[in-house]
Amino acid sequence: MCGVVGYIGPRQAAAILLDGLRRMEYRGYDSAGIAVLNGTGVKVHKAAGKLANLEREVSDNLPSGTVGIGHTRWATHGAPNTPNAHPHTDQSGRIALIHNGIIENAGAIRKALLQRGHTFTSETDTEVLAHLVGELYQGDLEEAVAAALREVDGAYGIAVISSDEPDLLVAARNGSPLIVGIGENERFVASDASPLLEHTRSVVYLDDGEMVILTRDGYRVRDLEVKDIDKPVNQIDWDLATIERGGFEHFMLKEICEQPESLANTLRGHLLEEEGTARVSGLNMTDDELVAVERIIITACGTSWHSALIGEYMIEELARVPVEVEYASEFRYRNPVVNERTLVIGISQSGETADTLAALREARRRGARTIGLVNVVGSTIAREVDGGTYLHAGPEVGVASTKAFTSQVAALALLTLRLGRLRNLSILQGRQFIQALTALPAQIEQILAKTDEVKVLAERFFTGNHALYLGRGVNFPAALEGALKLKEISYIHAEGYPAAEMKHGPIALIDENMPVVFIAPRDAVHSKIVSNIEEVKARGGKVLAICSEDDSEIERLADATFTIPQTLDLLTPILAIVPLQLLSYYVAVRRGCNVDQPRNLAKSVTVE
Ligand code: AGP
Repeated sequence: MCGVVGYIGPRQAAAILLDGLRRMEYRGYDSAGIAVLNGTGVKVHKAAGKLANLEREVSDNLPSGTVGIGHTRWATHGAPNTPNAHPHTDQSGRIALIHNGIIENAGAIRKALLQRGHTFTSETDTEVLAHLVGELYQGDLEEAVAAALREVDGAYGIAVISSDEPDLLVAARNGSPLIVGIGENERFVASDASPLLEHTRSVVYLDDGEMVILTRDGYRVRDLEVKDIDKPVNQIDWDLATIERGGFEHFMLKEICEQPESLANTLRGHLLEEEGTARVSGLNMTDDELVAVERIIITACGTSWHSALIGEYMIEELARVPVEVEYASEFRYRNPVVNERTLVIGISQSGETADTLAALREARRRGARTIGLVNVVGSTIAREVDGGTYLHAGPEVGVASTKAFTSQVAALALLTLRLGRLRNLSILQGRQFIQALTALPAQIEQILAKTDEVKVLAERFFTGNHALYLGRGVNFPAALEGALKLKEISYIHAEGYPAAEMKHGPIALIDENMPVVFIAPRDAVHSKIVSNIEEVKARGGKVLAICSEDDSEIERLADATFTIPQTLDLLTPILAIVPLQLLSYYVAVRRGCNVDQPRNLAKSVTVE
């Protein structure tokens, strides 16, 4: 997520801004910049890469001035390079703006501005907004910002300054958090409290649709029309470490709870309900090329390999294209049959996993078209594949992948929809799939509202060192993922298995000391999984079932249940995995494990 910071007061702004950006490095970014009103105009410095590059850039000519804005960019539109870094200025160069979020109608606005003679130096939606503010500026920055924001659709947390009005700083939020710091004759604005703590603990939280006009000794909050809004001043009592985790004890829990938002961001702008299909623009493949694909290979590692397995079920069910899923570490050394009619998809949160990168290079070497489903913009895999789509899940700091997994499955659903509607999926089936996808973020919210239930289950079920996770159909990969979550952060030996396969061996493990987690929603194979639960119960096993609401049959059989909302069979893993992520988290916390940095693990395995 990008980081926004702004300052107006009696002190030199540049040093305060750079320190504020340093406090927000944990948010993840790939470029940074500051803009300061220096008495003659707006002085902008920005650099790709880490903050140290920007600090080197300004070290011997720190811009002087007491009003400024600073930004760390997590690229969403446009490569992570210096031209795309924020702050961006308007056509006149006298207004500077920074932005966290996505302007969905930036393309249309850019086109209109180009027709009116504007010229742009970046690929970003943010520069378009800066130019729109500049075009609407008639001597009142507050009104120009309000007028511009009334024209945009999308999420934003912005800060704006103008060399024509050096005694104010305007900020506004819609969907991306902004917080105002109240100091002694100085005011701050930031994406979160981390840059403010050393200056003040008195803050005002902005809400969506609100703007704030900051002066050295005052602030005024209003909406985009003209109505002033009274806001209470709050005192922050968190320490810095807690702030960086958004108030959560661990990044992993923060990222589990971010999934309604991260999933919505993955889907944002892709779903075309009227046509019952999805727009996946980054594939760089025409519809004819997509129709010509005869076979798909999905290659990945770990959690990403589990989402790939779900993709196999989706694509074969709805698009009728044969799919094989390959561990990247195996694929790269096999002699796979691949040709120009094979589409090879690489899935990777980091975009840097060595095995996945090597597998994709091998596939390209053999003539296949490659696409990437990647979270980190500008990562090696994202740059080397022929096309792809970004997950827009935001930085995932916890080593155990959570929100990236659900976003990967959602991205695969978008690809499935595109492919299916080019083949034999009807418009009504497409619309039904879209409606189910659109409902998922709110359904995850419903699950997260029952987190305390999961905490109790963690206490009750996971006292030993073994566990079995069972699922059928598209929930077999979800069982694998649930088991991986438990084993990698709590060090309990957990194994995922297809439920029907249990009788071919693992059933020998069942006794009262082996907790068995079933993913058992009301789907096409419900009656079969009920039989599997009966088999476990008959041998004294303890059963925890993730099931649908009001499923009296499962509730009668299982020792404990956790219910999830109803969705399409193929999308069930996105909901079923959330309680399993929480389960692994609370078990690991109870066992005193290092949840965010488990032993022996790295967030990105960039070596073989
Ligand atoms: C998942 O919780 C693990 N951290 C690990 O299995 C991870 O999914 C795997 O290393 C692949 O990483 P990637 O998605 O960044 O390629």
